[in-house]
Amino acid sequence: PERVHRVLITGGAGFIGGAVVRRLLEGSQANVFNLDKLGYASDLTSIRQNDRYKHLHVDLADSAATSAAVVTADPDLVMHLAAESHVDRSIDGPKAFIESNVNGTFNLLQAVLSHWEKLPEERHQHFRFHHISTDEVFGSLGPIGRFSEITPYDPRSPYSASKAASDHLVSAWHHTYGLPVVLTNCSNNYGPWQFPEKLIPIAILKAVAGEPIPLYGDGTNIRDWLYVEDHVEALLLAATRGGLGESYCVGGAGDHGSPSERTNRDVLETICNLMDSLRPYGAPHTRLITRVSDRPGHDRRYAIDAKKITNDLGWKPRHSFEEGLEATVAWYLDNLDWCQKVSSKSDYLGQRIGLP
Ligand code: NAD
Ligand code: DAU
Repeated sequence: PERVHRVLITGGAGFIGGAVVRRLLEGSQANVFNLDKLGYASDLTSIRQNDRYKHLHVDLADSAATSAAVVTADPDLVMHLAAESHVDRSIDGPKAFIESNVNGTFNLLQAVLSHWEKLPEERHQHFRFHHISTDEVFGSLGPIGRFSEITPYDPRSPYSASKAASDHLVSAWHHTYGLPVVLTNCSNNYGPWQFPEKLIPIAILKAVAGEPIPLYGDGTNIRDWLYVEDHVEALLLAATRGGLGESYCVGGAGDHGSPSERTNRDVLETICNLMDSLRPYGAPHTRLITRVSDRPGHDRRYAIDAKKITNDLGWKPRHSFEEGLEATVAWYLDNLDWCQKVSSKSDYLGQRIGLP
């Protein structure tokens, strides 16, 4: 990005943060600092050694270590992605979500504010803090309508409540202390390197193993799916060109004529059909789809109206759901060793939904 020399990414050992780090190392001259505590969902395999890259092994819950990391990184741009991200885990153990997403964001804001206030004029002028958030802060939609920047906040899970709290903190630091912030609220991401606890990687891996693929409730809940590389493009545009104090909604609907909104059953059937041609096993993979008990407080539908980021910053997703999913299934089939390695760090899934 123009003018940006030093970028501090938080959560760069995670799924989306890792994609941002790779893109900055490959597509810019920026020095990239990756602040990440290395939690259960972290992995650094995808990030190649580079003189312009440094990992800072820090937990945002530790305010002194966070301040020291910001001093070391001395950033012109902060992209804050670090968060506990999995809704089911937040239902079973909300405390970690408050510590990382709320207290962690507070600690980071304080450290960054102090850094920004001391920057020399030219750098002070161009500094940005970009907070990466979710459409889940807006709650649950009925069959019609879409979320946009003016939708009132209505979070319903401990995860989304913690993300909503962090959004409000960021906005308050802008209005009260003048910190130059930009916010983005994105829909469901999928693609390579996603930790196999989220719907799409779980379904692929269960299909490979010939094991039951868990479908919560009646399977008619709807999500708006966005390929992670398209999200990265939106993030870099918002971080560098977004209006100060503005928020942008980011979703998967594009010009490719194929809907990004899908029921969970549709997602699983599409994966199963791809698997039938890539790894036939004698019976259709759809037979593996197994209804399990529903997520408590399961939001019905998410859908994004991304007109603002399209009109103001010229962003649109490039990948249709079919293209993105095909690439994703192929990637997981080529990277089963990685899946095995990272999954062995967590036996969470089977325990929670009581799979046979
Ligand atoms: P992820 O779980 O794959 O990675 C999160 C990373 O943050 C991990 O490496 C973890 O170690 C790190 N982290 C968590 N708490 C930390 C702490 N206290 N200190 C330091 N590091 C910490 O998550 P993801 O799916 O890549 O999501 C990244 C961000 O994007 C999150 O803020 C999430 O809320 C948001 N988001 C995700 C999606 C999605 O579909 N995955 C959609 C919209 C927004
Ligand atoms: O909308 C953005 C959000 O998308 C992000 O903020 C979150 O960090 C991210 O985890 C994701 O949240 P979801 O709860 O929508 O994603 P998940 O993959 O957990 O579930 C997607 C849908 O699939 C949801 O309706 C629940 C359902 N589901 C999920 C799992 C894990 C199943 O039916 N079976 C499953 O095994």
